[in-house]
Amino acid sequence: MNKYINEQIRALLEEPDMIAALANVSACIMESYDCLNWSGFYLVKNGELVLGPFQGRTACTHIQFDKGVCGKCYSDAETQKIDDVLAFPGHIACDSASRSELCVPVIVHGKVSAEIDLDSPQKNRFTDDEKTEMEQAASDIAEAWIRFSWTAN
Ligand code: SME
Repeated sequence: MNKYINEQIRALLEEPDMIAALANVSACIMESYDCLNWSGFYLVKNGELVLGPFQGRTACTHIQFDKGVCGKCYSDAETQKIDDVLAFPGHIACDSASRSELCVPVIVHGKVSAEIDLDSPQKNRFTDDEKTEMEQAASDIAEAWIRFSWTAN
C-alpha cells in the first residue's frame, strides 16, 4: 500500500524522454504494489500493441488488437480488471504463473495510445482502489504525452 503512488508517478512524469519516464513508472508500480509478477506498458504502434518498458519476466512482444486482455482493453478503450485470467477466453499467458490482471488504457486525444498492464500470480489481486489509482496514472501519462509531444512510433 502506497498512498502516494499517484504523486510519485506524476513526479516521474517530469522526465521528458518517454522510454525513461515509462520505465521508471513501471518500476514504481512494481515497488508499490505487493504480489505482482509483471508491471509494464504496451504501446500502440503500426496497428498493433508492442511491448514497452516493463519490470518482470520476458513477455510477448506483439499483440493484435483482437487478442487477449490487452486487445480487449484496446478495443473497448476501457480498463480490464480480470480477477481470474484462467476464466478469460483468449487470455495470453506470458507467464503461466499469472492469475489476475489489470490493464488500463492510456487515452491521448481520444485514442488508445498505450496501456498499463499489471499481472499477479494471485487470483482476485486487484482492488477497485487500485483500478482508480492506475486510471489516474493513465490520465497523468496522457497529460505528459501531450505536454512532451510523445509518439510511440
Ligand atoms: N496477459 C496479456 C498479455 C500481456 S502479459 O500479461 C505481459 C493478455 O492477455 O493480453
